[in-house]
Amino acid sequence: MASMENRAGSGKKKSKTGSFSGQLGFVMAAGSAVGVGNLWRFPYLAAKDGGGLFLIIYLCLVLTFGFTLLTSDIAIGRKTGKSSIYAYAAMRPRWKFLGIITFFVPVLIMTYYAVIGGWISRYIVVCFTGAGNAAAEDGFFSFFITSPVSPVFFALLFMAVTSVIVYKGVEGGIESVSKWMMPILLVLIVAIAVFSLTLRHTDENGVTRTGLQGLLVYLTPDLSGLTVGRFLQILLDAMSQLFFSLSVSMGIMITYGSYVKPDVNLSRSVNQIEIFDTGVALLAGMMIIPSIYVFSGTDGMSAGTSLMFVSLPKVFYAMGTPGIFVGATFFIMAAFATLTSCISVLEAIVANCMELFHASRKKVTVILTVIYMAASAVIALGYSIFYVEVKLPNGSVGQLLDIMDYISNSFMMPFISLLSTILIGWVVGPKWIIDEMESSGDRFTRKKLYIVMIKYVAPAMMFVLFLQSTGLLNALA
Ligand code: PHE
Repeated sequence: MASMENRAGSGKKKSKTGSFSGQLGFVMAAGSAVGVGNLWRFPYLAAKDGGGLFLIIYLCLVLTFGFTLLTSDIAIGRKTGKSSIYAYAAMRPRWKFLGIITFFVPVLIMTYYAVIGGWISRYIVVCFTGAGNAAAEDGFFSFFITSPVSPVFFALLFMAVTSVIVYKGVEGGIESVSKWMMPILLVLIVAIAVFSLTLRHTDENGVTRTGLQGLLVYLTPDLSGLTVGRFLQILLDAMSQLFFSLSVSMGIMITYGSYVKPDVNLSRSVNQIEIFDTGVALLAGMMIIPSIYVFSGTDGMSAGTSLMFVSLPKVFYAMGTPGIFVGATFFIMAAFATLTSCISVLEAIVANCMELFHASRKKVTVILTVIYMAASAVIALGYSIFYVEVKLPNGSVGQLLDIMDYISNSFMMPFISLLSTILIGWVVGPKWIIDEMESSGDRFTRKKLYIVMIKYVAPAMMFVLFLQSTGLLNALA
C-alpha cells in the first residue's frame, strides 16, 4: 500500500509516455516475449495442428487467457515494485511460497536457455564461413550437439554476452539493447516472409510448388479428421504455447512490471505486447511454412528443434545463392530474439536475488554468471558426456535439456498460473489488479472480461492443463 501512495503524486504526470524510457518495460517485455518460441515453436505447432484452425484458436486464447495472465503479472509487478518472491509476499504474506515457486522457473530455464542460444550462434558462424551446405547435410546438427567441445564453447559465449548486458543494468543495458534489436528483428522477419511467398520450386518428380500455395497450407483451417479429443489436444498445445510465448507465470513479467513507470497506461502496454508477440509469431509462420512447403512439401514440417536446425538449413541451401543471405539473416534474427529472452530470464533471477540478499546488481550478476556458466556447460554436455534417456510424463523421451524444459514449462507454469488465478480471483480479489490498471488515470478497456476470466475460466482451464502436464488427464481418459 505504501508504495502506491508514494507513487500517487507522480502518477498523474503524463510526461514521458511517448519516449522510450516512458516505454521502459514495454520494449523489454516485448524482447522477453519474442524468442525462439515465436520463431520455431509457433510455426511448427501451426503446421502440426491444422494450420488456420490452430491460428484461430491461438488468437482467441491470446485475447482472453494471454491478456488475463499478462495483465496480472505486469500489474502485480508495478503495484508491489518487487520481483516474484516479495511481490507475492506483499499481496498476502502466506502466499510467499507461490513467489518462491515462481522464482524457480527462471532458475531452471536459465540452465538451458544459453545452450539453445549457443546452437543458434554456431549456425551464424556456419553461414558466415560459407559452410551453409554443410549445415544442410544430414547429421550435421546431431554431430554438432554430440561433440563435447563446440556446444559448450558457444553456450558459454552466449551466457557471457547475456551477463554483460544484465550487469550493465536495466536502462543502460537491457533497455538499450532491446530498443534497437526489436525493430531490426521486425524488419528482417517481414523481409524474409515476403521473400518466401515469392518462392517456386520443381522437385525431381516434376511437381511445382509455390510460396503462395504454402501460405494457403498455413492459413486454411484443416478440419479433416477433427474429433473432440483432437480439438482438445490442439487447445492444450495452443495454451502451453501461449504461456511460453508471452513469458507469463514465471516471474519475468512481474520483474519487468516493477520497472514500468506509474504514469504509463498499463492496459495499452499489455495490448501492445500481445499484438507484437502474436504478430511476430504469425509472420514467422508466414516465413517458415511456405519455404518448407516449397522445397520439401508437407513432409518437411517435422517436429521441434529439427525444424529450425535441420529442415531450415536444407531450405536455405535449396534456395541457392539467395539462401546464403536469407539463412544468415534468419539465424542472426533468431540470435537477437533469443538474446533478449535470455536476458529477461537472467534479469528475473538477478532482481529476486538482489532483494533477497540485499546485494548489488554487479555482485549478484557475477556470482550467478559463474553458477550458470557451469550449469550451461553441464546441459550442453547432455548430448555427449552426460547423455541420459528419461521418459517424461507426456510420453516423450528426453535428455537433460528436455527435462529442465519439461519441469519448468509444462509442469510448473500451469501450476503457478492455477494458484495465482485463485489468489487474485478469490483471495485478494480482481479489484486489487483493476485499481492498478486504472491508477494512471487511464481506462482499463477489458475490465469485465478480466474479472470473468480470472475468477472462473482461467482457474478451470489451468486445472485441466495441469492435469494434462502431469499425465493424469491421459490416465483418466
Ligand atoms: N517467450 C519466449 C519465446 O517466445 C520464451 C521464453 C521462455 C522467454 C522463458 C523467457 C523465458 O520464445
